[in-house]
Amino acid sequence: MAADHEYSDSFVAGLQWMWGEGFLSPGGAEEVALILEGIDLTGCHVLDIGCGLGGIDLLLVEQHGAAKVTAVDVDASLINQARALAQAKDLADRLDFQTVTPGVLPYHDNTFDVVFTKDSLVHVSDKAACYADIHRLLKPGGRLAMGDWFGSDNIVTPEMQHWLTIVGLDFKLGTLNAAKALLRAAGFNDIHTRDRHHWYADYMAEELATLSGRSYALLEQKIGPEAARQRRDSSRAKQVVVDQGQLRPGHIQATARPAVTRRQSQE
Ligand SMILES: C[S@@+](CC[C@H](N)C(=O)[O-])C[C@H]1O[C@@H](n2cnc3c(N)ncnc32)[C@H](O)[C@@H]1O
Repeated sequence: MAADHEYSDSFVAGLQWMWGEGFLSPGGAEEVALILEGIDLTGCHVLDIGCGLGGIDLLLVEQHGAAKVTAVDVDASLINQARALAQAKDLADRLDFQTVTPGVLPYHDNTFDVVFTKDSLVHVSDKAACYADIHRLLKPGGRLAMGDWFGSDNIVTPEMQHWLTIVGLDFKLGTLNAAKALLRAAGFNDIHTRDRHHWYADYMAEELATLSGRSYALLEQKIGPEAARQRRDSSRAKQVVVDQGQLRPGHIQATARPAVTRRQSQE
C-alpha cells in the first residue's frame, strides 16, 4: 500500500510536467477515453480509486457525462488540491474528493454504477482483496474500467530492479493475465484486457522531450536542479525497462456479477 505523501510536491510537479496539469499518469484525455471505451457514464455514480490531483475526474464529469464522481486517494495533500480544483470549476456538487486509508473502502455494498481507476492499484499489495472490495461496491452488473501498470512474465531484469529503486515508489506489479484471473475469482465476468505496451514505448519519446533542452531548464527552475535531475534519470531508466517489456501499461474492463448469480453463490 502506498504510504501517505509518497508523492512529494516536487515529484508531483515533475509528473505533471511530463503528463499535463492535474495528471499523475500518462495519456491524458485520450487514454481515459480508451479505458472507458464502450462504457457510457451518462447519469452514473462513478467511484475513482486513486484519483490523485483529480484531473481525470473533471473529464469523467465534463466529457463523459458522469452524474457524480466519488474520488478517493490515500494522500490528503493531493485530495486537498483536487477539492480546490473542483471548487474553482464550480463542480463541487458533482465531484466528491475524499481521503481514505488503504484497504476496504468506507462505502455501502452496491453503491456505484462504475468503478474507474488509473495507475493506482499498482500500489496495492493484496490485489485479490482489492478486487473483491470493488466487486462489493459495484451494483450488480456494474462496470469496472481500469488502467494500471503491469509487469512481465519474464524474470525481473537488473535494469528493472534499478528503476524500481530509483523511482522511489512502492510498486506491486503483477501481470495483466494474473489480474484477469484474480478479477474472475472476485466475481467479475466479461473481462477484457488490452496491453498498451507498444503505445507507451512510442509515447516515452514525448515524455523524454519534456525533460530535455529549454523545457528541462524550465523544470529545473520550477522544482530545483536536484529534483529535476532525479526526474530525468528516473525517466531515462524507465525507457530501458519499457523497451524490455518489463513495465507495461494495460487496460481492463469487467462486469460485476448480476444480482441473481450473487444470490445463488450465497445459497
Ligand atoms: C500514479 S498516481 C495516479 C493518479 C490519478 N489516477 C491519475 O492518473 O492522475 C497513483 C495514485 O494512487 C494513490 N494511491 C496509492 N495507494 C492507494 C490506495 N490504496 N487507495 C487509493 N489510492 C491510492 C496515490 O496516492 C496516487 O495519488
